[in-house]
Parts: sequence; C-alpha cells; structure tokens
Amino acid sequence: MADISFEALTRWYGDSPQHRVLDGISGHIRAGEFVVVVGRSGSGKSTLLNLLGGLDLPSRGTVRIDGADLATLSDRALTGLRRARMGFVFQAYNLIPTLSVGDNLRLPLSLNGIAERDQVSEWLARVGLEGREAAWPDELSGGEQQRVAIARALIHEPEFILADEPTGNLDLDNAERVIALLDGLCRESGRTLIMVTHAREVVGLADQLLTIREGRLVEADEDVAPGAAASADAPEPDAPEPSGDNTSADSADAQTDSTPTRPGGGVTHPAMMRKGSSS
Ligand SMILES: Nc1ncnc2c1ncn2[C@@H]1O[C@H](COP(=O)(O)OP(=O)(O)OP(=O)(O)O)[C@@H](O)[C@H]1O
Ligand SMILES: [Mg+2]
Repeated sequence: MADISFEALTRWYGDSPQHRVLDGISGHIRAGEFVVVVGRSGSGKSTLLNLLGGLDLPSRGTVRIDGADLATLSDRALTGLRRARMGFVFQAYNLIPTLSVGDNLRLPLSLNGIAERDQVSEWLARVGLEGREAAWPDELSGGEQQRVAIARALIHEPEFILADEPTGNLDLDNAERVIALLDGLCRESGRTLIMVTHAREVVGLADQLLTIREGRLVEADEDVAPGAAASADAPEPDAPEPSGDNTSADSADAQTDSTPTRPGGGVTHPAMMRKGSSS
C-alpha cells in the first residue's frame, strides 16, 4: 500500500494560467486513510480528485505515488496504474448500460488480466445485491446501481478508491447505505478512500479533511454545505457536470488526452485538518 503526496499542485485550463482552478496546494495522504474533500461548487474538488487519480495531469506541481511523479510516467504506465491501482466511483454511477451487472463487474477483472473465480458473486453479496448478476443496469434503482458501481470500483482490489459525490443522486437512506458501504469496505481492507462530498456527516468519518476554497486548501470547514442533507450529498443547482466522459470502467483512458501546459508559479499553501481516528 502506497502513500499519495502532492506538491505545489496547480491546474488551469486552456490559456488562462491567471485563472487557476488549483493554486499550488500540497499535502500527503497515507495508505489506508479516509480523506474527504469539501468546498463549494466550482472550487476544484473534482479537479483535485482527477489529478490524484491520474485521470488528469497538473499544469504545474506534482502528484507522487510510491515516490513516482505521475507526469513522468508513459501513457501506458499511467493507464496501467489507473486500471490496477485505482477504483473510481462517480456521482452518476456510470455503469455500462449495454452490459449486465455481472459483465460490468467482470470488466475491471479482464482489463487487469485477473482470472475470474467467484469475485462477481462475492462482491454482489457484499453490496447486498445477491443474485442480480443477470440484471441490466436500468433495471436497478439508483442506490442499487451505485452499489454495483462500488463493487466494480473495488473488485480488482485497487489500493485507492476515488469517489466523486457518490451519493449525489441518492435519497437519504441509500446515501447512508452507500457511504457506510464504502467506508466499511475500505477500512476492512486498509484501502485508501478519497471522497468528494457535501455531506456533513461524512466529514465526521474522515481521517483527513481537505477544504478547498478559491484553489487553495484552507483550514475552515465552513464550506461544507450548510443545511446539506445529513448523509446525502447536496449538489448545488448550478453544479457543472464532471469534466470528461466517465462512461466505462476504464473511462480513465478517455481522459488522458489533455496536455497541460506548465508555465506560471504556484504558491504552496497546505492547510489540512486531521480528524481523530474515526468510526
Ligand atoms: N475541462 C475543463 N475546462 C475548462 N474549465 C474546467 C474544466 N474542468 C473544470 N473546469 C473549471 O474548473 C473549476 C473547478 O471545477 P471542478 O469540476 O473541479 O469543481 P467542483 O469543486 O468539483 O464543483 P462541483 O461541486 O460543482 O462538482 C470550475 O470553474 C470549472 O468550470
Ligand atoms: Mg465536482
């Protein structure tokens, strides 16, 4: 199990280095930690998650896993790292609609050359969906689809789970169930969980809280949406869709064609709040 560190991490889009979505942030995520990322809509949460997961590369600064700067990896190595070591859970589930539930779960196994034993039925049981292997994604409720998506993110036993508002489309009961599932599954196996959420109660479960405001990490947690449903994410009405088209288990590959430029200067401004050991 590896740590993730990021240093002077800076991201801007296009030719606008003066408009930095992330402005020189630094931090360290230890193996096995549950890290929650909060901040207002547009503050750069998804951008940070995508950079930490190797879905995107910084304009400036570094993300290191096992000491290796992700930007120095070949495309092939970066794709391999994402496939094998990362599991992504998105707000919109992103199951492949033309594949059965079972085949959605088989995809990360086959992409990683992992022989199928009983993982599909085991993981369906873990997420409370025994016997639903032959179902189509659109035959499942939102909460059920998100539980399949969680199984798909974990089935190949990645070290890092990155979840971007995974309960944003769920009602309170399903949101609680999904959060408990993700937290429990990651803790029992010592996996690192990095989750973007608006939900205050999830913040309480975190080992480390990263609060982003105007591209910087700040100490205050006032940006956790006031009045957010107790356990459900509360996306703001004007929340932009996540960038990129994350429509497959290997959606990472679709997002690696960005070629960030690297001019400009970032300011390191780490400000992380450690919560006590949780749950
Ligand atoms: N591909 C892109 N091209 C240009 N601008 C982008 C791109 N992706 C994100 N941005 C901009 O970067 C800023 C941060 O976006 P990001 O998606 O990281 O915000 P967020 O904190 O995840 O917001 P939300 O809570 O609404 O999901 C926004 O102003 C957004 O418009
Ligand atoms: Mg986002």
